[in-house]
Amino acid sequence: MISNSQCDRGISFVGCGSATPQKIITNDQLSQRVDTNDEWIQSRTGIGERRVISENESLIDLATHAALNAVKMANWDVKTIDLIILATSTPEDLFGSSPKIQSNLGASNAVAFDLTAACSGFLFALITASQYLASGSMKRAVVIGADQLSKWVDWDDRKTCVLFGDGAGAVAVEAVNDETGLIGYDLKSDGSKGDCLNLSQSNNFLDLIPGASYQKGEYFPIKMQGKEVYKFAVREVPIILGEILDKYQIKSDKIDWLLLHQANQRILDAVASRFSIPSEKVLSNLKFYGNTSAATIPLMLDEAVRDQRIKSGDLIACSGFGAGLSWGAALFYWHGPY
Ligand code: COA
Repeated sequence: MISNSQCDRGISFVGCGSATPQKIITNDQLSQRVDTNDEWIQSRTGIGERRVISENESLIDLATHAALNAVKMANWDVKTIDLIILATSTPEDLFGSSPKIQSNLGASNAVAFDLTAACSGFLFALITASQYLASGSMKRAVVIGADQLSKWVDWDDRKTCVLFGDGAGAVAVEAVNDETGLIGYDLKSDGSKGDCLNLSQSNNFLDLIPGASYQKGEYFPIKMQGKEVYKFAVREVPIILGEILDKYQIKSDKIDWLLLHQANQRILDAVASRFSIPSEKVLSNLKFYGNTSAATIPLMLDEAVRDQRIKSGDLIACSGFGAGLSWGAALFYWHGPY
């Protein structure tokens, strides 16, 4: 377990932002392509529609927009940003898309890098950023979760294509000497179950010269064992959240908002019921975006902050989970201006 009690300074959440593509694909529209229907999708997942990046948009643009909104909310000069981490499994450039975002923002003093942990990516990136801030080596960080799974989904596989969408969200976090926003966290991986959900490379070797071959860079579409992933999430998320609540001696009725990775409404409901958290405190926008992978948590946070459900000082219990397999949880207070 990684604990921020090892660090010198606290972390404050002071801004958030998000951006989503223009194009909406409803369940009914999807049923024009695969044998599915709105009733099946809504009842099994809670998803009503998703958004898909079109030719005139890009993941980097969405991520830049989300980051800019977070920086504006925090009221920061972009030159004061020290660190930008882009959590994504779908970069535009496999060498990294975050430096482009850094330059789009004009954050010329920031170092930027990508981090991949699938749907847990935002949480993993947030905890990574918090290490730099809490150690005192950096003061201000922007953590972005952005994914374009639409380009890796098999749109003819009804078992997966109905679940995913594109989007971006971001938070602005800074080191503070007084009361911390980030109370505690834990991150986990289990690569032995990685086959339950993956986006793996093809093993396509082509002739290079006589006697030598090279591996062509290409990936298979997303493959998933839905039931296994479902069971993993409803088993592990309550355990990891429960462990953190116990560690910091926080009773679940003190949680203002349950902010889970938006994968499936039934997973959200199952986790909430394990902690007797009423549905009014369970944040969900699955209906409108589906599973946007690394983007779901900051996208949901931004929506609930801007419509003033989440208020400054609210306690948020957050958990991300997904491919890897990977999962994590964090407890934090929101300290933004709303
Ligand atoms: N529309 C209509 N029917 C569908 C369908 C669709 N989109 N997808 C699957 N079906 C059918 C199946 O073919 C199957 O039919 P059969 O019984 O005739 O073979 C039936 O529905 C049940 O399929 P199954 O895969 O057993 O459904 P399920 O109850 O497990 O629900 C998921 C499927 C994907 C909704 C569910 O397993 C799930 O949510 N898993 C977690 C996935 C997830 O969150 N992944 C991301 C994690 S980050």
